[in-house]
Amino acid sequence: MSEALSAEITREIARRRTFAIISHPDAGKTTLTERILRAGGAIQLAGNVRAKGERRRTKSDWMGIERDRGISVVTSVMTFEYGNCVFNLLDTPGHEDFSEDTYRTLTAVDCAVMVIDAAKGIEDRTRKLFEICRLRDIPIITFINKMDREAQDCFALLDEISNSLALDVSPATWPIGRAATFIGTFDIRTREVHTKDPVDETDPRMVQLREDLELVEAALPEFDRESFDAGHLSPVFFGSAMKEIGVTDLLDALVAYGPAPRAQPTESREVKADEEQVTALIFKIQANMDPNHRDRMAFARVCSGRLTRGMRLKHVRTGKQFALHTPQFFFARDRQLAEEAFGGDVVGIPNHGTLRIGDTLSENEELRFTGVPHFAPEILRRVRLDDAMKAKKLRQALVELAEEGVVQLFRPQDGLPPIVGVVGTLQLDVLQSRLKGEYGVSIGFESTPFTLARWITGDREKIEMFMMTNRSSMADDLDGDPVFLASSSFMMRRTIEMNPDLAFHDIKQIG
Ligand code: G4P
Repeated sequence: MSEALSAEITREIARRRTFAIISHPDAGKTTLTERILRAGGAIQLAGNVRAKGERRRTKSDWMGIERDRGISVVTSVMTFEYGNCVFNLLDTPGHEDFSEDTYRTLTAVDCAVMVIDAAKGIEDRTRKLFEICRLRDIPIITFINKMDREAQDCFALLDEISNSLALDVSPATWPIGRAATFIGTFDIRTREVHTKDPVDETDPRMVQLREDLELVEAALPEFDRESFDAGHLSPVFFGSAMKEIGVTDLLDALVAYGPAPRAQPTESREVKADEEQVTALIFKIQANMDPNHRDRMAFARVCSGRLTRGMRLKHVRTGKQFALHTPQFFFARDRQLAEEAFGGDVVGIPNHGTLRIGDTLSENEELRFTGVPHFAPEILRRVRLDDAMKAKKLRQALVELAEEGVVQLFRPQDGLPPIVGVVGTLQLDVLQSRLKGEYGVSIGFESTPFTLARWITGDREKIEMFMMTNRSSMADDLDGDPVFLASSSFMMRRTIEMNPDLAFHDIKQIG
């Protein structure tokens, strides 16, 4: 490896911070995102992200359906610089119907910020997202938000986080004042007071702070880098996104110890971010981001090397060369050509459907990144076409939207119309609205006799035999892999028992 390149890569990846924010709806993720982007200079006014008067609309909300329903459906990425670090903030959909999308996004981050409402504590969705992070040992930073309101006692909150998530917590800051009198934070390690206006040592809030700190130091663990990196210990920050208190504490912490790009697993070996060879993983596809300009963007996490505009990479799934003419970075408001990118960066790659979720790009090595899953859908519906003349268009549109991960597509082997599978019903609404809006195809949904789907693997001949005898319950997925559909969990269990030579999977690793 050339020494200069190696040194450059090492230097650049050390300043990359790629993270997501996870939270229960309403805990303040949107507000915190705005404040972070503002602190990072990505937007001048916090109001720019959420346009005035339009509730819950952020610049990352590209699709009409999101605006109509006030939810964040798509995953987007926002790149900004702060404290000499390059941050890639990956936005995850807030609604649990899009959990598959969230899961994929979390495969592309090195760290997650968990936002908790100080009055409500750990909520259902926070717990689920946390569990996903834990599966991948993603380090977690906790931000306890809304300290400007009536909140639970801080020690009680820390206890709750620690007990209900089985996660060690180590306060990095402590609030000064509570609710209406909350004015800032105290940095436990540097002993600095962070308040907008100076506060006197004799102020009752400072007296309370000193009392609390004695207990903090006696009862709670100190920050430990190794436990944090392994996902066992979370540093905790207190703040108010709305009042912009504690936001820079959080960003400064990400600069100081937010993990640099992690090694990524492949089928054959781990790829370290400081390797010279360029590798990248496609974790998200998004089509038609700009309605005036039909385009299809693959979001790639650069996993190693220095990616430069114009370079040719091997598209491992097809073995073909892929030229990176216009890789792009995304900012809060616009995109820009990415002349170069390093491990941890997320770039958008425009393409015409060549790139799929889970694909690997590499300079020449036959590598396949793992960890990007498809979950067995929990809802299966047959697509009913309103205008039979549009059958061909529908077929093509369904493939494109399935490649994007909007729904999963199953083609029944008995030749009946296609079945779509989703984890949450909102995905069906998105499919219907996008088919109409982007392809001019109106559809409805019909129920199917099926409630469960499992991917089958095993000896080819045995699979063929199984398919012959179960033709009316068999379908092919988007990649042509066989899927068994069952009408009930009883049927599924029985089928599995009767076919011990075959394996039935509820998760498919793609790539
Ligand atoms: P989400 O993305 O996690 O769903 O939450 P979002 O930021 O939209 O915040 C949910 C509500 O909580 C919003 O109020 C927001 O203004 C409020 N909020 C966020 N952070 C803080 C905070 O630090 N302190 C206080 N007091 N409130 C906070 P809303 O009334 O539902 O919406 P809006 O009318 O303010 O837009």
